[in-house]
Amino acid sequence: MSINNSLKITRLFEPRTVAVIGASSNPNKIGYTIVKNIVQGGYSGHVYPVNPKGGKILELPIYQTIDEIEGEIDVATIAIPAPFVFDVVKACAAKGVKYLSIITSGFSEVGNTEEEKQIVTYAREHGMGVLGPNIFGIYSAAVSLDATFGPGKIMAGNVAIITQSGALGIAMIGKTATEKIGLSAIVSVGNKADVDEADLLDYLTYHDGTKVILMYIEGIKQGEKFIKALKEATQKKPVVVIKSGRSKRGAVAAASHTGSLAGTDEIFDAIMRQCGVLRAESLDDAFSWAKFLADTPMPDGENTVIVTNGGGIGVMATDACEKYNVKLYDDLHTLKQIFSPVTPDFGSTKNPVDITGQAAPNDYNSALGAGLKNNEISSMIALYCETAVFDADSLSRMIKTNYANYQAGQKPIVFSILGGEAVENSITTLRKEGVPIFADVYEAVSCLGAAYKWRSYLQDYTEEVDTTAMDINAIEQIAQNALQDGRTFLLADEAQQLMAVAGLPMPQSHVAHSLDEAVRLAEKIGYPVVMKVVSRDILHKSDAGGVALDLDNKEEIIDAYQAIIQNCRAYNPQAVIQGIEVSEMVKSGTEVILGARKDGAFGPIVMFGLGGIYVEVMKDVAFRAAPLNRSEIVSMIKEIKSYPLLLGVRGEARKDIESIIDTLVKLATLIRQSKSITDIEINPLMVYEQGDGTKAVDVRVLVSNVEKGNPNG
Ligand code: ACO
Repeated sequence: MSINNSLKITRLFEPRTVAVIGASSNPNKIGYTIVKNIVQGGYSGHVYPVNPKGGKILELPIYQTIDEIEGEIDVATIAIPAPFVFDVVKACAAKGVKYLSIITSGFSEVGNTEEEKQIVTYAREHGMGVLGPNIFGIYSAAVSLDATFGPGKIMAGNVAIITQSGALGIAMIGKTATEKIGLSAIVSVGNKADVDEADLLDYLTYHDGTKVILMYIEGIKQGEKFIKALKEATQKKPVVVIKSGRSKRGAVAAASHTGSLAGTDEIFDAIMRQCGVLRAESLDDAFSWAKFLADTPMPDGENTVIVTNGGGIGVMATDACEKYNVKLYDDLHTLKQIFSPVTPDFGSTKNPVDITGQAAPNDYNSALGAGLKNNEISSMIALYCETAVFDADSLSRMIKTNYANYQAGQKPIVFSILGGEAVENSITTLRKEGVPIFADVYEAVSCLGAAYKWRSYLQDYTEEVDTTAMDINAIEQIAQNALQDGRTFLLADEAQQLMAVAGLPMPQSHVAHSLDEAVRLAEKIGYPVVMKVVSRDILHKSDAGGVALDLDNKEEIIDAYQAIIQNCRAYNPQAVIQGIEVSEMVKSGTEVILGARKDGAFGPIVMFGLGGIYVEVMKDVAFRAAPLNRSEIVSMIKEIKSYPLLLGVRGEARKDIESIIDTLVKLATLIRQSKSITDIEINPLMVYEQGDGTKAVDVRVLVSNVEKGNPNG
């Protein structure tokens, strides 16, 4: 049973009763802290401590076993050593517990995978969901439940945190306290043996008390399920993600370009963007964004105006706006109309609006007030460099007043102020009061950038999925034939057949097994032709000298045939050469690479990039998860650095981008619908001028009987 139904997950976040198994009257034990946090947190349900020794803890009677408790138990928090957990899980099943929150360490994270599996299988078979093991527990403001062994006294609020690291999670509780960030929930998922981030999103997405979701992730187990849950969540509220582990080690062993180019982190990053997630690099950014997005109205337009009392800091903010894609309003005429009444003659009404170093609190109030009133302006950045015109009190008052005005006016504003001790103290005090104020201009602008990023995602979002009809049974048959032949890749003629079925015709091509046959085939196809070695032992044909292009007559065929055989023998003397492929010479165009594969973590993904022989050097590629629609494909195509080549440079015509999109839709359909194809890669795909289409020149297809792409591990 998979715990993916929001009605059921509600019981984890809003239990009516909680049992703590391993409740101890020893204040140094985790089992004591959990009971203490539940009691001191003011849990609205009933808590039942359980310990074979009996007695009392914090005035509560201790039950010797869970079955002694009368009535239903929604959540059992387990904090006893690993060897005793399974027996307790069985007792919980007999009691009809709905969720287990297994704090205990000592399972898959230390190699004890088998016992973890047994526990989860047993729990599922008995209708119980399992959070953890190896977690610090769950806090849920909806029922004032702090069933964690964290520091306690969690401030209730509207940010929910899901964390894979327990230790970091406990540290985050501390940080939310110092930053005065109120939490609607914090859940540690630990080993994610059953309940994972996607299950928790099922609740948090629709939980009205949660305005922003922040996640700390180390690895993804069920990518497709996670992507679906994320796409649903970001429709409702901003989701901020921090992911550690940018290692590319996992990709090294991959067998195709799509694999080796797909550093795990690049794919993760691309998919987060595709899902509208705001990915933060640091905890500081993540917390700043979460707090800002939870407390501030979203901008209803694109135009931002900077108001500053200093030129330098204004330029820094302008740079930051460029970095975080915050659009500065640039209608000089309107800016002059709005701001000249509130700017001295020696200031500037261009954006940044410079109200000069002599600006007093009232000047800020006037300038920020003018921006608030104007419908063209959707957000403001207020900057201040310490001057003698302000004292600390008037500075704080000015900022608080304008923040309140902007809140009331449903427009976002961020402040960045620079100066000495008094300014620093103001920042500390104002932040505690919830004002989005920062010493660092970039940090301030990044918050606004996060809001705009989410807004623009929502504006572009469409639920549609684009697919193409194709005879998937015929494709499976081709793949199965190769597998039955003991191969995990398709030979050239099989790949061509598959491409024809998928609606991606390739150049005419046949395999010659002798020189005479090569000449005959070339004359049948018509000059010019290309010849390529066919060998299961030579994957990179160009590197082996196994390719000859633009052959115009019989003599050139004879020379090239002999050269290919010689080169390949020298490159790999053990290689078995099955023949030489003779193909129609494709006219040159812009070379791109297209791929699709079943990724172990993320499920089906597609890749697009600059193609040809430099693909691995340039690594100018972009990724998306399938299923996807044409607008997601367009944004993937635009992401590569070489995109201008497709638009045409130095007077060249625009290339047929529509045809690239069609091909990617076909690859995405193929990789999702075929059970046996794990990787397919077209390199190069020749792209011609708009209207002239594309041509797949070479294709590589890998197949497998082991279903990939949606594993549990
Ligand atoms: N039913 C109920 N109570 C039981 C049972 C049982 N079947 N068996 C034992 N107990 C009682 C014990 O008698 C003890 O109570 P006592 O203090 O009155 O004697 C209590 O449960 C706890 O058992 P201990 O043997 O004392 O175990 P201890 O508290 O030392 O450790 C724990 C248990 C905390 C679960 C430990 O095994 C563990 O896994 N620690 C790591 C937890 C962790 O770090 N999780 C990841 C979190 S995130 C992070 O990294 C910060």
